[in-house]
Amino acid sequence: MTCFVCSPLNRPFLLADTHHQFHSPVHTYIASLQTLYLLSCSAFEAVTFKMSKPTVARNAIKALNTARPAFTTARPATGFTRPLSYTASLGKKKSDDPAKDPILSATTNAPQGASSDKEGQFARTDESVQIEYPPDSEMPTQPVAQGRGGMHFKRTLAQFSLEKKVSVVTGGARGLGLVMGQGLVASGSDLAIIDLNKDEAESAAASLIEQFRKENPGLEDMPNVTAHYADVANPDSVSTAMAEVLAKHGQIDNLVTSAGFTENFEAINYPFDRMQKLWGVNVDGTYLFAINVAKHLIERKAPGSIVMIGSMSGSIVNVPQPQAPYNAAKAAVRHLAASLAVEWAGHGIRVNCISPGYMLTALTRKILEENPQLRDQWTALIPAGKMGTPEDLMGAVTFLLSDASKYITGADLRVDGGYTVT
Ligand SMILES: NC(=O)c1ccc[n+]([C@@H]2O[C@H](COP(=O)([O-])OP(=O)(O)OC[C@H]3O[C@@H](n4cnc5c(N)ncnc54)[C@H](O)[C@@H]3O)[C@@H](O)[C@H]2O)c1
Repeated sequence: MTCFVCSPLNRPFLLADTHHQFHSPVHTYIASLQTLYLLSCSAFEAVTFKMSKPTVARNAIKALNTARPAFTTARPATGFTRPLSYTASLGKKKSDDPAKDPILSATTNAPQGASSDKEGQFARTDESVQIEYPPDSEMPTQPVAQGRGGMHFKRTLAQFSLEKKVSVVTGGARGLGLVMGQGLVASGSDLAIIDLNKDEAESAAASLIEQFRKENPGLEDMPNVTAHYADVANPDSVSTAMAEVLAKHGQIDNLVTSAGFTENFEAINYPFDRMQKLWGVNVDGTYLFAINVAKHLIERKAPGSIVMIGSMSGSIVNVPQPQAPYNAAKAAVRHLAASLAVEWAGHGIRVNCISPGYMLTALTRKILEENPQLRDQWTALIPAGKMGTPEDLMGAVTFLLSDASKYITGADLRVDGGYTVT
């Protein structure tokens, strides 16, 4: 019998000879495969040609005895060896020069840019993308959602209703917070809007009431929607806002922390004061409001539900815009929700996180208008093929605040068109 490795050298296959002992582990491996082959042939012959049992046993023991020393002597005494794998070459013999292997040089072994101009194209950040969160004077205005809050006659689980509840939404004057607040009002809740921009919060509260009246003509029992100033990153400001809300509503049952923002700078040149502000609003602000509401619920001995608005950026790294501090902040929000869920579970307070993907708010629309290349890059990576709308969060937030999710706590609900599963 001829060894596959030695045959090109016209060597006979002698398992115990010196050639074999100093041969590579590949040879040893193949030798063992051949041994197994011999064993199975012996068995096959025994069945097919009715070989006597002692002959089969003799052949098998002979094969094993010859193979065993080969393994022990050929294996290197120390050091780590890669597990052996062997793929038979198809047709042409492979070149020994790695530079001439087209797959190797296009995938693992090539210098940057050698294989194509698309290397890493959809998996890298681009430091030239720099987007600052605009000042309030440049913020685009956003109308309230239309046609989502009217009475309807579709049967639905009563558990989804938020009637007789008071919900607080931070960052509720615009964007996702405004639309989620509208969803809560449509589901029966009263609402306290908290925002840094009190004027906008007040006009949002008035618009929500007006829209509700339009969509529910003849309804006398109007929701109580109020607006309050707070800088969520400031503990004193949060305490003052809490006292104001309790004075107007008497109680708080639910909280949605939507105050937050993102900015894009490459990490090395990220202005430190802006990074601190970003973490202050997204992380400290979420934490401060959550502990204040939990304290109130614990004192009242009332159950409650908190939804923290994180982002898919807390689980993945967005491309091409660089935003390391934001991504880290949203990962913190997600794990804060899980941690507080455990801490407050005994008080009947549930804490969950919603991680939206790319949502088309008035602000993201402005960003896309100013950076049109981002639009195609973003949508190309979303399995649903489309960005979400703020209205897509109405049901998710209502579900997590309502009794429909009574046994759900510490969860992260991703509303991202499938972005994070690819
Ligand atoms: N828009 C998206 O595509 C998207 C995606 C994932 C996550 N998010 C997250 O959703 C949340 C809402 O984002 P958005 O797109 O609606 O933003 P937005 O800028 O439209 O609205 C944010 C609101 O928060 C308020 N705010 C900012 N700082 C505050 C502070 N210190 N105290 C109180 N209020 C403050 C703003 O005045 C504004 O009304 C953010 O946490 C954001 O990170 C947004």
